[in-house]
Amino acid sequence: MESITNLLQAQLHTHIDTTMTLGEKATAFILLVSTISGFVFLTCKAYNLLRLVFSLFILPGQSLRTFGPPSSYAIITGASDGLGKEFALQLSRTPFNLLLISRTGAKLDALASQIRSANRNIDVRTLAFDFRTVNDASGSALATLKSAIEELDEVAVLINNVGKSHDIPVPFVETEEEEMRDIININCLSTLLTTAIVAPKMVTRKRGLILTMGSFGGMLPTPLLATYSGSKAFLQQWSTALGSELQPHGVTVELVQSYLVTSAMSKIRRPSLLVPSAKAFVRSVLQSVGRTGGAQGWGWTSSPYWTHAIMQWGLGGIAGINDRWVVGVNKGMHQEIRKRALRKKERDSKKGS
Ligand SMILES: NC(=O)c1ccc[n+]([C@@H]2O[C@H](COP(=O)([O-])OP(=O)(O)OC[C@H]3O[C@@H](n4cnc5c(N)ncnc54)[C@H](OP(=O)(O)O)[C@@H]3O)[C@@H](O)[C@H]2O)c1
Repeated sequence: MESITNLLQAQLHTHIDTTMTLGEKATAFILLVSTISGFVFLTCKAYNLLRLVFSLFILPGQSLRTFGPPSSYAIITGASDGLGKEFALQLSRTPFNLLLISRTGAKLDALASQIRSANRNIDVRTLAFDFRTVNDASGSALATLKSAIEELDEVAVLINNVGKSHDIPVPFVETEEEEMRDIININCLSTLLTTAIVAPKMVTRKRGLILTMGSFGGMLPTPLLATYSGSKAFLQQWSTALGSELQPHGVTVELVQSYLVTSAMSKIRRPSLLVPSAKAFVRSVLQSVGRTGGAQGWGWTSSPYWTHAIMQWGLGGIAGINDRWVVGVNKGMHQEIRKRALRKKERDSKKGS
């Protein structure tokens, strides 16, 4: 800072000589300050771009093996479909033993058999569990979850993947109360309670990885998905705070940022440049643990899939993310999606009748 001030003073002496009029001095001063500011701005941008390129394409992520030995477990919530299923398949190749959790026991059992037939040496456990019930006043649902997790010798990795969005984009004032409650219970409360069961033992062992699925909807306020957007913003703040708390204890915490991925939730089947398959997305997550990707300036957050990363990097640099114009564009997009979804519902109901 001192050397910048010295440089500025030297430049001022060179460029603003004493014979100049006051107006000329002011113009020269403004020109000089603009040049220096422009130089600093461009240097920062170039540095950020280099960081992005290195983080995405050159530097390796942390080896998953450092989080626990082959006898340890990875827990995946929402494991029977979409991203969760891919996390299960790819983590089984590290290998980790697995605890797979979602509502549909039959789907979990089919996935467990598929994994066991590819690798006989790993233990794959399943728990048919509905995360909507974690708020149950009797506490019996939570006790079931707790005992399934506490039976495991060591949990090396927790993937907080389970999530629910709105059935279709909907104005907040028209959102069903049940949908609001489910989103908050599944996305927020379940993630907190599952992590609270797992994290203390990771702290004792001084190792472990807690990955939580965020969403661009949590970074960019999303009208017509207000409750989902708010729930993911909650996870962003919570996970970042937890990352800071657990880092001195050797536990790695990361919020994973994502734009759209092909899955039942996104209702997109065909991958494209901006919408990768679940397989490609999860591969990018697991290969880049500890790397920020496009989430530069966001602590304990990773935006690992390259096109999503470039989008996030660009959005962060161009405009204030909560800018009315940016939110307005996002609103327009979701109003269009709602119109199309309502038309489809109408067509389907005519076919059904
Ligand atoms: N796909 C995207 O475009 C996208 C974008 C950004 C972020 N994300 C986030 O990524 C995560 C995974 O999304 P996805 O697209 O893979 O979702 P998905 O295809 O809808 O899969 C959701 C998984 O969660 C399980 N599940 C749903 N409700 C449950 C409940 N109440 N209790 C227990 N399990 C439940 C489902 O299995 P059962 O039905 O058998 O329970 C399924 O295995 C979510 O957190 C989502 O917000 C997704």
